[in-house]
Amino acid sequence: MTITTEPFEMSLAALRARRGNKWNRYPADVMPAWVADMDFTIAEPIQRAIEKLIVEERDYGYGYRAGENSLPAAFAHRMNDRYGWAIDQDLVLNVTGTVQGMFVSTMGLSEPGDGVLIQTPIYPPFLMTIEKSGRRLVENPLRDTGSGWELDIEGMRAAADAGTKVLLFCNPHNPTGRVYTREELQAVGDLAVERDLVIISDEVHADLIYSGHKHIPIATLSPEIAARTVTLTAASKGFNLAALRCSVIYFGSQALRERFRRVLPDYVLGSSSVVGIDATVAAWYHGQPWLDEVLKKLEANRDYVAQFIKDQMPGIRHHPPQGTYLSWLNCEDLGLPGESPYHFFLEEAKVGFNQGGDFGPLGKNSVRLNFATSREVLDEVLGRMADAIERAPALAR
Ligand SMILES: Cc1ncc(COP(=O)(O)O)c(C=O)c1O
Repeated sequence: MTITTEPFEMSLAALRARRGNKWNRYPADVMPAWVADMDFTIAEPIQRAIEKLIVEERDYGYGYRAGENSLPAAFAHRMNDRYGWAIDQDLVLNVTGTVQGMFVSTMGLSEPGDGVLIQTPIYPPFLMTIEKSGRRLVENPLRDTGSGWELDIEGMRAAADAGTKVLLFCNPHNPTGRVYTREELQAVGDLAVERDLVIISDEVHADLIYSGHKHIPIATLSPEIAARTVTLTAASKGFNLAALRCSVIYFGSQALRERFRRVLPDYVLGSSSVVGIDATVAAWYHGQPWLDEVLKKLEANRDYVAQFIKDQMPGIRHHPPQGTYLSWLNCEDLGLPGESPYHFFLEEAKVGFNQGGDFGPLGKNSVRLNFATSREVLDEVLGRMADAIERAPALAR
């Protein structure tokens, strides 16, 4: 197989030589289509910022970055530029990961045993956060309407009992790729006010939005909603910098910040290295032209996956995502043999997806596909799937 090289695409040989998780978890005969990072090279301004630090300056002293170079200033710039959102730089906290942010915000702003409301199926660390912190899972499944995924606001209201204290929210939603509308967010925010819930809103996929949709940070809806909202974000998804470990927790009010600080002093949290901070700062000031190009490619890949499924694997239920580069594929109607669709595709198609069951029991018949790759890799993944599905009846006998 030959792989062409577009500006930010990498050859298959270069991808196979990578040392990270995506290309090494599975044996070499498996095409990886899992974990949320992109098979693309990063934006030039970010690469230059990293090289400036590690090649020219070689400055690894304690990393205070003043003025425009600080993470809070870059975050403020980005939020204002993208959403017209004026944030307070004093309420920005740097941590090393968005999942870390989710864990510590839940631990800092609720008590053991408190109910935490989530929309399932959901990115597995949401479930882990609740379980490992000794909180109680309050489940509010998304509804598959047949033409898309819908928030069940009445179900949310019914599920949120008196002991429910936190809404752990994911927008854009991983794995369905829903980008919630203003009306939906308003209903969620109003319910949080009504039931006095803290909203922990993971918006790490906010940069990855397709035509016709718009990301709205839930904290921008009203001062009342902002005051109870912790927003988690990073440049790591949109700009493909996951290993640089730099995320932001943004507290929507001084009261939330203080409440959190009383439980978790900053010293126990750790913070990013200067490499992560410089890269994030460069992404937020200078990365958008690159991201605009990447989004065109991702949107074309998204449509390509949808068309391929329609034409060649019509038994798969799939709603093209409105954001993220993840497709959630419900394989229930295929009646595949084996333990799960994940195992079937791994063993029979030699394709490595994320396992749907990890996203909660509702996901057990699904797999999550990452389409942020070259068209050639995507063709190989989809072609292998279609071939294996065709062979499935014979395998089941
Ligand atoms: C919704 C969501 N939150 C958090 C993360 C991980 O973020 P981090 O690597 O910063 O912990 C991911 C990664 O895919 C994600 O999809």
